[in-house]
Formats: sequence, structure tokens, C-alpha cells
Amino acid sequence: MPFSQACENNKLPILQVLRAHLQQHKTVLEIAGGTGQHAVYFAQSLPDLYWQSSDIPANVDSLKIRINHAKLENLPEPKPLDVNGSWPEQCYDLVYSANSLHIMSADSVRNFFAGVGPRLNAGGLLIVYGPFKYKGEFTTESNARFDEWLKTRDPESGVRDFEWVNELADHAGLDLLEDHAMPANNQALVWQTRNSPARN
Ligand SMILES: C[S@@+](CC[C@H](N)C(=O)[O-])C[C@H]1O[C@@H](n2cnc3c(N)ncnc32)[C@H](O)[C@@H]1O
Repeated sequence: MPFSQACENNKLPILQVLRAHLQQHKTVLEIAGGTGQHAVYFAQSLPDLYWQSSDIPANVDSLKIRINHAKLENLPEPKPLDVNGSWPEQCYDLVYSANSLHIMSADSVRNFFAGVGPRLNAGGLLIVYGPFKYKGEFTTESNARFDEWLKTRDPESGVRDFEWVNELADHAGLDLLEDHAMPANNQALVWQTRNSPARN
């Protein structure tokens, strides 16, 4: 099955962030599901959740392997979703994406935020996991080297500036709630729709 060691390492710390937010948030859209390890682990660990995973059309068949094998009631077949294409009509309580914004081009990251805003229910959350720069600085030397490596593969990719993505989130109607420092030089960023009933 498709496998990522990083997913094995980070799934428990990410679960702790997700768990803290799941009292009111039950339906999840995952963007860039990759190997499906996060989808299966989170759907198994949080059975009250309905976890809809997705990935670009070229990668969705590989995502289906692990998810279909898991046969979990709260984990339906993954959907094809390219952030640059058409998005599902349905709205969700939470949109989740890990290790995707540094893989996408800057235009794709813009489309990611523009697409997420209208897909969130009132009070909905966006949780993004991955490496970020702050005020133009990498948080660690290894993230700087990772950024160089990413750019040799694809010059349009790269570790994103937190301030830039937070501005895109703001334009999409999302306010930053939390910024968690996570293991392996990553962050878990949590935004909430501005029209959250809980916060009015
Ligand atoms: C490094 S993998 C991360 C996968 C998984 N979320 C994880 O944490 O291991 C990057 C993912 O971004 C997805 N991706 C790249 N461009 C995308 C786009 N335009 N729209 C949606 N997903 C995209 C890739 O297909 C891939 O699954």
C-alpha cells in the first residue's frame, strides 16, 4: 500500500489537535489525502466523524487503495479534487490538509484558500499541517534545506510564508484561532470562519 513514514510519525500529534476541536465539528473534507494513512487513522480514532478524503484525479486511485481496504462506515470513497478545478457543492464542518501547501504552486495555494472559504459551514474550521516561514525566516535550518530541495524538484513549490497564507485565509473569511508548533519543525494552523455563532 502507499506509505509515508512521516504520516506515521505525525498522526498522533495531529490527532490531538483534531480531537480538541471535534465537539461541534463532525464532517471533514480532507484535501491532498496522499497515502490515506491520515484518513484511516483519524476516521478509526474519531468514529463520530464523517471523513471525506480527496486528492487530485491523477492520485485519487492510489488514495483509494488504503481507504477502500479499511472499509470504515465513516470513511467514504475518496473524491477527485484539484484545488484549481471544480470543488464539491457540499459544505463541511472542517477542512483538513497536511503537507500540501508547500507542494502546490503559489497560484494553487491561492485557489486552495478561495475554495475552502465557501465550503465551510458557519463556525467551520480549516486545519492545515506543514512547515511555514515566519517573517521570511525558516523556523529551522532543516526547513531551509527542505525548501531548497523542493525547488530543485519544482521551482513553483516551496515552504510558504505564514503571513501570506494567513492573509489569504483572511480574504477567505477565516480568522486564525491557533498556531501549534508540532514535531519535526511543522505547524498546525487552525482557522475559523468569521461568522462563527460560537464567537458572536
Ligand atoms: C506531500 S503529499 C502529502 C500527502 C498527505 N496529506 C500527507 O500528509 O502525507 C502532497 C499532496 O498534495 C497533493 N496535491 C498537489 N497538488 C494538488 C492540487 N492542485 N490540488 C489538490 N491536491 C494537490 C498531491 O497529490 C499529494 O497527495
